[in-house]
Amino acid sequence: MILYYTGTGNSACVARQIAAETGDEVLNLFEKLRAGDHTPLHADRPWVVVTPTYAWQMPRLVRDWLRQTPLTGCREIYFILTCGSSIGGAGAHLKALCRELGLDFRGCAPVVMPENYIAMFKAPGPEEARRIIAAARGSIDAAAAAIAAGRPFPERTGGKLRSSLVNGVFYRLAVKAKKFYATDACTGCGNCAAGCPMNNIRMADGRPVWGDACTHCMACICACPARAVEYGGRTRNKVRYICPEDV
Ligand SMILES: Cc1cc2nc3c(=O)[nH]c(=O)nc-3n(C[C@H](O)[C@H](O)[C@H](O)COP(=O)(O)O)c2cc1C
Repeated sequence: MILYYTGTGNSACVARQIAAETGDEVLNLFEKLRAGDHTPLHADRPWVVVTPTYAWQMPRLVRDWLRQTPLTGCREIYFILTCGSSIGGAGAHLKALCRELGLDFRGCAPVVMPENYIAMFKAPGPEEARRIIAAARGSIDAAAAAIAAGRPFPERTGGKLRSSLVNGVFYRLAVKAKKFYATDACTGCGNCAAGCPMNNIRMADGRPVWGDACTHCMACICACPARAVEYGGRTRNKVRYICPEDV
């Protein structure tokens, strides 16, 4: 079973492509994460978890969900991390997580997709994004072929300590919702609140109000149809990124 979490669509796109190649079923974790639903899941084929990379690791919300959700049946699990450039030593952390959970770690494969972290960096424009997505095809096909053949992904070693340090500092200092706000362009449609995987946005007097449980997925800011969400001064005039549907 392919489980995916996505903020801006890249990981959904990769999960769909893996499913098309392996014929496996796909489950979007959005509702489960949002509701804190830890009902056990069962699969007779290997588990495949597809997520973005957040500060050189799998997003903590997915790691924590995995820790609390029994996965029964097959013990083998593959991880595919989409990223803007590098997953660092994420694989070593996932291997340790699998030991903790009694799962058989089959590897962690990076897939470079368009950067979405506009609170810190720039996202590519539409043409450049399509070029990057097309170039990802090779690594997606290689991952799908390994899963279909029951082979582990090629081993990637090192980087565990660097990933720990970067990730720890990042979550402590950067992952805060305080700087999000809606401009006068806000129509009060509630798209941002409905699309928040942490259920961290509520509408008050027709405007979004952010709580403290943000994971910086960039869904609220990138998917706003009125382009009314900003993050301090850092996102003004920056391209918003959502993975196109037709790739
Ligand atoms: C909070 C945050 C942290 C990120 N950290 C990294 C990182 O460490 N390395 C990297 O290459 N890309 C990083 N990115 C970029 C995303 O991992 C990448 O664009 C991913 O494909 C987005 O997937 P999604 O569209 O499924 O949410 C980060 C993005 C966000 C929002």
